[in-house]
Amino acid sequence: VPPGEGKVAIAVRAAGVNPADAKSIAGVFGRNEAKLPLAVGSEVAGVVTEIGAGVTNVAVGDEVVAFRVSGGFAERVVTAASNVFAKPAALSFEEASGLLLVGTTAWHLLEATAVTAGDRVLVHGASGSAGSAATQLAIARGAEVIGTASAHNADTVRARGATWVPYGDGLADRVRAVWPEGPTVALDTVGTDEAVDVSLALVADRGRIATINAFERGGAAGIRLLGGGPGADPGSAVRAAARQPLLDLAAEGRLSIPVAHTLPLAEAAAAVELANSGHPGGKVVLVP
Ligand SMILES: NC(=O)c1ccc[n+]([C@@H]2O[C@H](COP(=O)([O-])OP(=O)(O)OC[C@H]3O[C@@H](n4cnc5c(N)ncnc54)[C@H](OP(=O)(O)O)[C@@H]3O)[C@@H](O)[C@H]2O)c1
Repeated sequence: VPPGEGKVAIAVRAAGVNPADAKSIAGVFGRNEAKLPLAVGSEVAGVVTEIGAGVTNVAVGDEVVAFRVSGGFAERVVTAASNVFAKPAALSFEEASGLLLVGTTAWHLLEATAVTAGDRVLVHGASGSAGSAATQLAIARGAEVIGTASAHNADTVRARGATWVPYGDGLADRVRAVWPEGPTVALDTVGTDEAVDVSLALVADRGRIATINAFERGGAAGIRLLGGGPGADPGSAVRAAARQPLLDLAAEGRLSIPVAHTLPLAEAAAAVELANSGHPGGKVVLVP
């Protein structure tokens, strides 16, 4: 079926895999049997094969990135032209495919908490894809960052320009040892009680604490809830507008989300499990 008006068909070369795909499959975002089979996968990189009437931003043969798409775990995806952007030449299809979901999430975290130069930003989960993106964007804005992660990821966090501290008991004291005045902003990409509680203990202004995960506890505490969760701000406009600037930062080498695992499309189930494991160590990508 050729793409309709304003739509683009893409031959998928790589599809980014996210914990959200596992949540979608588990029904966390809602269940509707009328909509089965479920279309999984929201970001891809590939080559434009066909364009519908009225499409002017891309042409057949272009190497592109697309987000947000439906059913990205496939050999071919059709999406609105407004979701399709030129792939930065410096990035492989695999690298480009996993950039925009976590990138736009991190952008939303910084916008919602109004991070600017001089801020001291505590990032929970700085070794993860969303946390790494938030760290890099905060540093690009001139903020200082402390990032939490496991010890084996300390150097990864430091390479982003942040100060690493391990999460776990005593986290608040370890942050105060680095910043006696405490952070001005806390960004939680992890969702544990510890991440929320330490953020509340260290940052007085609850409008400058945001979570993309701890919707129940965070909601009760009156902090900012971002993304697709109960009571959360989806930030659709902010996130949509962030896509081109994020690709520009990646093209300039100022934002990078490394790929840890590349699996064939037939192993989509294993890829989703890995992406949702809590410690994939980087992006998981499917290749048709
Ligand atoms: N609301 C939204 O819009 C939105 C968007 C994107 C993602 N998310 C959610 O955000 C979460 C992170 O996504 P991601 O793609 O960045 O995942 P990821 O790459 O797997 O990152 C997970 C991070 O959490 C850390 N971590 C794991 N267990 C921890 C614990 N017990 N205490 C403290 N830190 C811990 C990991 O650190 P180590 O590996 O170093 O231990 C790593 O830094 C997922 O739950 C995802 O669904 C939400």
